[in-house]
Amino acid sequence: MTTTRAALPAFAARSRVVGASPVREILALTARPEVISFAGGLPAPELFDAEGLRAAYDRVLAEQPGQALQYSTTEGDPALRAAVAGRLTVRGLPTGADGLVVTSGSQQALTLVAAALLEPGDVVLVENPTYLAALQCFGLAGARVVAVPTDDDGVIPEALEELVLRERPKLLYLIPDFQNPTGRTLPRARRRAVAEAAGRHGFWIVEDDPYGELRFEGGYEPWIASLAAAADRTVLLGSFSKIMAPGMRLGWLRAPAGLARACVIAKQAADLHTSTVDQAAAARYLADSDLDAHLNRIRAAYRDRRDALLAGLPAALPSGSSWNHPQGGMFLWVRLPAGQDATVLLRTAITYDVAYVPGAPFFAAAPDARTLRMSFTTHTPAEIAEGLARLAKVF
Ligand SMILES: Cc1ncc(COP(=O)(O)O)c(C=O)c1O
Repeated sequence: MTTTRAALPAFAARSRVVGASPVREILALTARPEVISFAGGLPAPELFDAEGLRAAYDRVLAEQPGQALQYSTTEGDPALRAAVAGRLTVRGLPTGADGLVVTSGSQQALTLVAAALLEPGDVVLVENPTYLAALQCFGLAGARVVAVPTDDDGVIPEALEELVLRERPKLLYLIPDFQNPTGRTLPRARRRAVAEAAGRHGFWIVEDDPYGELRFEGGYEPWIASLAAAADRTVLLGSFSKIMAPGMRLGWLRAPAGLARACVIAKQAADLHTSTVDQAAAARYLADSDLDAHLNRIRAAYRDRRDALLAGLPAALPSGSSWNHPQGGMFLWVRLPAGQDATVLLRTAITYDVAYVPGAPFFAAAPDARTLRMSFTTHTPAEIAEGLARLAKVF
């Protein structure tokens, strides 16, 4: 006897907006150990403070197992929130523990903010180019993503003003410090201009800052969240991924009270709360270890690695190329001469056992095929020099 099998209903339209990326398929080829990859966005694993973290997990499991392994509140571990609030306050952004929500990485904070704020069709303004997974997140929320023109210093305030009048955005997504993918930092005057535009025209700002603490040159710029014009309309996102360990999946958001409440409700629906044991270990680590001393070790290593990259680029890249000089973070941005296509060249690069990420997929509009992102974090200066020698042959 044959039974008929009815067709299944289709996937939601939103699940089709984020397609497979051809670049991801090429990059899958860079997993071979002989490849020197400037492509990854990973922190250097040999710099994780594994000893300090192991001690923190040990103490938590020895001293408070019942609490550390139990369900907990959606807002997050009070000790961890207090420690983060203390660090923000010291850096000029007065914050109480109650003003923070712990998230499962700052990636989840993006999802929560999108769930709390966005209706399908709402306009989200982004830097062009910007962080890929933020584009995916806003795309999944059904938003219409519109690119703000940028130059070497990030979003151009006059262009932003024009777009705001035309598009009436609900939010502006920015990575003001050592942006992913470009490594750019938004100067102070532009932060003020952006904050004032948000005040005048009424839109939310999502200030995503996973890299700000990785500054190894120059002084801190103020968070947009600390500027009076935008204090009541800015959500600041932070992360332990680049300063402690991404595998712990710990981030946080600092939002005005009403929006923080809406994010807490969205988080209840998503995962109830972030891992209790990881939060407790992070809080223990912050109490028992010296995160700032650890950060200084990371900064020193990343500065040496950035310097090795900057030293080798002139000989590795074709003449007519340009690149920036990031003062921190993990990435540097390159533009090849006219007529070159970084995606096409990546295929050749892989045959020479060296890789980078083409810039094109990071653009929300009008991709620039000549651009590419280079990460300087995961290889030693000597490996960076060897990787650049291989790239010289490719180009
Ligand atoms: C700009 C930006 N935001 C957010 C994230 C997500 O980080 P996590 O969820 O690990 O905190 C990343 C990761 O690379 C990033 O580059």
